[in-house]
Amino acid sequence: MLRLVRLVALLLGLLLGGTWAYAWVTRAPGESLGDAFAGRLALLFGGSPAGGPSAGGLQLPQGMVLGGPFSLVDQSGRAVTERDFAGQWLLLYFGYTYCPDVCPTELGTIAAAMDSLGPLGEKVVPAMVTIDPQRDTPAQLAEYVTRFHPRMLGLTGSPEQVAEAARRYRVYFARVNRADAGDYLMDHSSFVYLVGPDGRVRSLFRPEASPDDIAAVVRAQLARAAAAS
Ligand code: NI
Repeated sequence: MLRLVRLVALLLGLLLGGTWAYAWVTRAPGESLGDAFAGRLALLFGGSPAGGPSAGGLQLPQGMVLGGPFSLVDQSGRAVTERDFAGQWLLLYFGYTYCPDVCPTELGTIAAAMDSLGPLGEKVVPAMVTIDPQRDTPAQLAEYVTRFHPRMLGLTGSPEQVAEAARRYRVYFARVNRADAGDYLMDHSSFVYLVGPDGRVRSLFRPEASPDDIAAVVRAQLARAAAAS
């Protein structure tokens, strides 16, 4: 019985923690974290969402803007900004090449989603922005991202450039030093972003989203954009 109580408490804790993290990522500018958390909890328990209909992925609350200008360096050492991707769709992930588990899984998921898109995938650029610019040089990124997909881009920059890009996408990251070794890990949020041709996030995917989930949303968003133009 005690084990069951512990298990239920653990699950509830995970659910609330996840909702809190999601609220943190998706809250609107000026919205307090408490309000955002209450709103996402209402969604979780069947309340109606504030935004319009979503084509899939996670719903972005109305008025919320994710994405926007950034200034980074690609894996060939060339300076790039959001203008270099104008008119293109991006499947964007923030991670780092030394990540022991989650990042490789998510980049594998993005690569599989790209394959699942077939020829439509040519309209989409898969990319990872590192949140560990100290170790992730352009050369390190180039070697890493192409292991997942031949067209995947790796983006880095100065610590300030990376922090600014992460802020635009509400990415959480923090260095975690390990007592037993000279190296360190990075703690970080792990959403996949579908960025539209205008540089703004259209859909957000939780870490457990499947390649088919992502591909379905990309197809729907591309079809919606084609119908609107
Ligand atoms: Ni990671």
